[in-house]
Amino acid sequence: MSLKVGVMASGRGSNFQAILTEIESGSLDAQIGLLVSDRSEAPALRIAEEHGIEALSLPYDKQDRGAFESLAGDAFEAAGCDYILLAGFMRILTPAFIDRFENRILNIHPSLLPSFKGLHPQRQAIDAGVKFSGCTVHLVTQELDSGPILSQAVVPVFERDTEETLSQRILEQEHRVYAEAIQVLSQKTSACKI
Ligand code: GRF
Repeated sequence: MSLKVGVMASGRGSNFQAILTEIESGSLDAQIGLLVSDRSEAPALRIAEEHGIEALSLPYDKQDRGAFESLAGDAFEAAGCDYILLAGFMRILTPAFIDRFENRILNIHPSLLPSFKGLHPQRQAIDAGVKFSGCTVHLVTQELDSGPILSQAVVPVFERDTEETLSQRILEQEHRVYAEAIQVLSQKTSACKI
C-alpha cells in the first residue's frame, strides 16, 4: 500500500501540482487523500477538483485557530492520511495540532534553513548578499521553520536577482525536492510495514 498524504495549501498550489504530477506519472509512490485550504478562492482547490482529489475549504478564524485545525485534523484522519504536507499553507499551526500529528507534518521553505526563517526568505537572502540560497523540506515542530531537515536543494543567487527571479529559480527546485523527500518517506514507510 502506498503512502497516503494530506495537503494543506493557501494559494496557487504549484507544489501541490508538482507532487500530483509525480504521482500521476508513476515516479512517486504515494496518493493524496485530501487537500485542505483555509482560503475558498485558493487555486489549489481548483487543481484538486481537476484531478479528482477530495478537497475541503474550511473557514479560518484567527481568534479560533483550533476550530479550523480540529476540523482539518479530523478530516485528515478520516481520510487515512499518514502524513500532512504543508504546501504554501500561510498560517501558523497551533502546538495542539503539531502534537496531534507529531513527526507527521512536512513543510517546504524557500531558503536553506536554518537561514532566513519566516516571511520573505528570498528577499532576506538577497538583502543578506548570500551567493547561494535554495529550499528545505523539514518536519514541522513547535518552533517556526526549525524542525529536522529531510532534504535541501541549492541555487545560485546572482547580483541582478530580484525577489521574483530568485523565487522562481528556487521554486523549480522545490517542485523536485518535495516529491523526492516524500518518495524517501514512502520507501521507509513501506519497509516498516513489511
Ligand atoms: C513556496 O515557495 C513554498 O516554499 C512556500 O510558499 C510557496 C508556495 O507556493 N512555503 P505554491 O502555492 O506551492 O505555488
